[in-house]
Amino acid sequence: MVLEPQTILDPFAGSGTACIVADQLGINSYGVEAHPFVYRLAKGKLSWNVDSYDFVAAINEITECATNLTLKLPENIPGLLSKCYTQETLFNLLKIKQAYLEITPNLSEDLQSLIFLAICAILRSSSHVGTAQWQYILPNKRKVKICEPFEALDKQMSLMREDMLYMQSLAKVSRANLIQGDARNLAGIPDNVIDLVITSPPYANNYDYADATRLEMTFWGEVNSWGDLHETVRKFLIHSSSQHVSKEKLSLDALIAESVIEPIKDELIPVCKELEAVRATKGGNKAYHTMIAAYFADMANVFYALRRVTTDNCQVCIVVGDSAPYGVYVPVEKWLGKLAIALTFIKIPTNQLTIFHHPY
Ligand SMILES: C[S@@+](CC[C@H](N)C(=O)[O-])C[C@H]1O[C@@H](n2cnc3c(N)ncnc32)[C@H](O)[C@@H]1O
Repeated sequence: MVLEPQTILDPFAGSGTACIVADQLGINSYGVEAHPFVYRLAKGKLSWNVDSYDFVAAINEITECATNLTLKLPENIPGLLSKCYTQETLFNLLKIKQAYLEITPNLSEDLQSLIFLAICAILRSSSHVGTAQWQYILPNKRKVKICEPFEALDKQMSLMREDMLYMQSLAKVSRANLIQGDARNLAGIPDNVIDLVITSPPYANNYDYADATRLEMTFWGEVNSWGDLHETVRKFLIHSSSQHVSKEKLSLDALIAESVIEPIKDELIPVCKELEAVRATKGGNKAYHTMIAAYFADMANVFYALRRVTTDNCQVCIVVGDSAPYGVYVPVEKWLGKLAIALTFIKIPTNQLTIFHHPY
């Protein structure tokens, strides 16, 4: 029997889609996101309940203040910003940022989050450089369609206003609890309260979530270089990129000694050893052998934490993809399933979703 969930959880909340949908359905939700910048974006999206007049008035005030600002371009502009914007565009964006910094301290936290989101949303569209698949900024690639920052902000305001009004037509308040935290411990979520987990975790595919927000974080002064990304973002995340494990100098022997991966050890170790051997033929480049071992250790800890917060008849729905670093096949779905079953979830695979049930 499938019961209507009372409370859902997305332990990898990203920009908060699952929590938004829960709000639309009038369901309580928890979202956990470890990336500090992505968490702020989700905060903005979940602030849909702000009075839309206040939002429009605040953006208009920022635009007016920015237009009248006399600002000198700072001398130490990060190289990435100089590559991604013409001087005039950067000048206007920095004016908008300055106006945001002057005006928003007097506004409610929700309104601040919405405005932050609106400004972040125009940073790509007003740049003349391209964005690769998966959001990495490509400073050397030119694009044709570029928006002037003030126009882009006006458009973004209208778009967000429409979305806010739509959400407000469906629900009175947000029932989402967004936590800046770690899916590996789910701190802040009480025991046995979650009826449905629905999530898309990082895949074991070398995607670097820290690098994906480099332009935006550089604009806000949160990082100055690619090198800063580890300390500010990457170190908080699931190990799913080779940069992450290399920076932490993780050792394969230590990783495979971890008891949490016991249920898949026999299959995991030969694959990691093969990855290590292939790496040696490639000049010791990508540390996929430790990335894969660390990924499964992390995900085992996520299942462990999920056991604590879920109710006895909770379903856990996870969108996962296979992985083949250096061409070596890693059966991600199968191994995640094994880890989950070892923690007494029952696995029911479907086409795209891997669905785990708690036993009754
Ligand atoms: C595939 S994305 C989720 C996208 C999301 N469904 C959305 O609507 O935007 C995975 C997310 O997990 C986050 N993440 C990585 N490690 C985490 C951890 N240890 N705890 C919580 N979130 C984490 C990443 O920052 C990323 O935002």
